[in-house]
Amino acid sequence: MASAVVGYSRDMHLPTARGPLTEELFAALRSGSEDFFTVLAAAPTATGDDAALALWALHELQYRGFAEVDDALEWEPQLLRVRSVLERDLEARLRSRFTPPQGLSFAEDFFGWVDEQDGVSLARHVHRDADREQVEELLRVRSVYHLKEADPVAWLVPRLGVRAKAALVELQYDEYGGGDPNRLHHHLFELGLAASGLDASYGAHVDLTPLEVLEQNNALSMLGLHRRLRGAALGHLAAFEATSSLPSRRMAQGLERLGFAPEMVAYYAEHVEADAVHEQLAVRTIVGALLEEEPELEEDVWFGAFTCLDLEDRFARTMLARWGVGEEQVA
Ligand SMILES: [Fe+2]
Ligand SMILES: [Fe+2]
Repeated sequence: MASAVVGYSRDMHLPTARGPLTEELFAALRSGSEDFFTVLAAAPTATGDDAALALWALHELQYRGFAEVDDALEWEPQLLRVRSVLERDLEARLRSRFTPPQGLSFAEDFFGWVDEQDGVSLARHVHRDADREQVEELLRVRSVYHLKEADPVAWLVPRLGVRAKAALVELQYDEYGGGDPNRLHHHLFELGLAASGLDASYGAHVDLTPLEVLEQNNALSMLGLHRRLRGAALGHLAAFEATSSLPSRRMAQGLERLGFAPEMVAYYAEHVEADAVHEQLAVRTIVGALLEEEPELEEDVWFGAFTCLDLEDRFARTMLARWGVGEEQVA
């Protein structure tokens, strides 16, 4: 018999504003106003945390929304215009960091290319040296993604040809627990947080998150929500899955070293096995099929893969700097 499903709060509240745009946006969302003129006016000049938090909140209207915000605003045209201004800026910044690899073929060279990207590894720090406080902080900020893990990729399903679609759904079926809510990955993370004495409710830790985490989430949502970016979204998925299994093993061992609850260890242990399978599925079957059907998307696949690794590297450097850990210790 299946064990009982424990539920945590899905009711999220708007986070704390981080600048003029989020001040305007959150006030307007709360008031139930139908006039977003001041928000639209503030959008083009917003930068940094303010712009990233605004975009994150606008994307959340497409996922679960906020307790104090009218659900009808999900498709409010003025808010979609604000979102589009912020997304254009994000995409331009991400593309400006990317140089297409020369002379490489995705099918032949992807795993080798991933191995050559030498980012710093937070999992290595957790494995050997991190203290409990640092790991709790890491779990809190990671929760912004892990509590909706796999959801940004779900937008892609109707946008693919039959082979890529069938393989993506095979991968997603696993992410969503294969029919068992207690095996659903974002629920495993919830159970782990709660067993570790951390707030497991959706969006609880957004105020703690650095810019880099907001941008990781924004990039994923943007790639998932725009059909024209499907190649980049699947490239991101391929890079994500291809860099998960070994770090998940290090995370599981680090959590055990620090005496974390078995439920938290279990989330990472699950990903050691699952992502060793998912990386093959994502790289060979899903992206393989996509590029056979739509070979013109190859450069965007590389762009998405690069963006995934680049954003993770920037996030890792930010956390190490917060903790005063030298990058050479975790290279
Ligand atoms: Fe997962
Ligand atoms: Fe996975």
